[in-house]
Amino acid sequence: MNKNPFYNHDILSSEQYTKENLEILVNVSREMKSIVENVGSTDVLKGKVMTALFYEPSSRTFASFIAAMQRLGGSFIPLQGMTYSSVTKGENLEDTVRTFACYSDVIVQRHPEVGSAKRSAAASPVPVINAGDGVGEHPTQALLDYFTIIEHFNKINGLTISLVGDLLNGRTIHSLVKLISLYNSVTINLVSPDILKLPEYILKKIKDRKVKIKELDRLEPVIGKSDVVYVTRVQKERFTDMNLYEKLKHFYIITPQLLKKAKKTTIVMHPLPRVGEIESAVDNDPRAVYISDQMRNGMYTRMALLSLVLQKNKF
Ligand code: NCD
Repeated sequence: MNKNPFYNHDILSSEQYTKENLEILVNVSREMKSIVENVGSTDVLKGKVMTALFYEPSSRTFASFIAAMQRLGGSFIPLQGMTYSSVTKGENLEDTVRTFACYSDVIVQRHPEVGSAKRSAAASPVPVINAGDGVGEHPTQALLDYFTIIEHFNKINGLTISLVGDLLNGRTIHSLVKLISLYNSVTINLVSPDILKLPEYILKKIKDRKVKIKELDRLEPVIGKSDVVYVTRVQKERFTDMNLYEKLKHFYIITPQLLKKAKKTTIVMHPLPRVGEIESAVDNDPRAVYISDQMRNGMYTRMALLSLVLQKNKF
């Protein structure tokens, strides 16, 4: 039996992923996809409980983790919008996490503060999975995005990936860019308005890895060369100046006309929710994978992660 590198481990940053353990995640995600498509569910996590501890809004991440746990035969404590909890009485994050660690085997957490998942992990005797820590990271989204690209192209090396939108505040971007830059011969176009550029500390990290990087503020010059166009929402909740947000929110709009410039084989991705940056007329284009594959892959990859974190002999 090989050693399962995820067993009983926290998932806090996409920097924990290596080429080797990504291969395991891809294989197990494929296995999960096949289980769901053929029989719907399994009972390998029967008796296990997941707490979904969400302090920020969520649709897909919250629901796909719950669906994943259910399809693995486990159960869950759903805590969304912690309004009715003791948090409103002033309880700190550590006490809340220690409490739910007494009731469950894994805690999936979303919280507005950068570093909050790491704080919780330090306090928790059970593994913590970061489902978004403010403008920090979103490592499980990066995993589903990676899986979507792999399922489509069967590789990362050699691809040109254009990341578009709010690269400053978008945590999905922060996690994904670190992950794809593990592959030396990928080309990454960072397409954003000047004031929403990728944070310097992340840029430095990926530059050290010697991937090809181009920063620009227009998509048109690179759309025709892109294999992946990954579009993000301008993160309204991270702005203090709403006038600035209004000016920037539709800096990029993907239209059917713009997509005419892209290759037939290009895929268009978005972590969702979208608020106007991809026109709905694009949805029926076969290159649009955000409503279909990308979203389904969220459940398969989270099934894979939960099964690896909770089962010693999974691999
Ligand atoms: C993203 C998030 O919460 O960071 N959504 C998601 O998890 N699919 C992206 C976003 O909110 O823009």
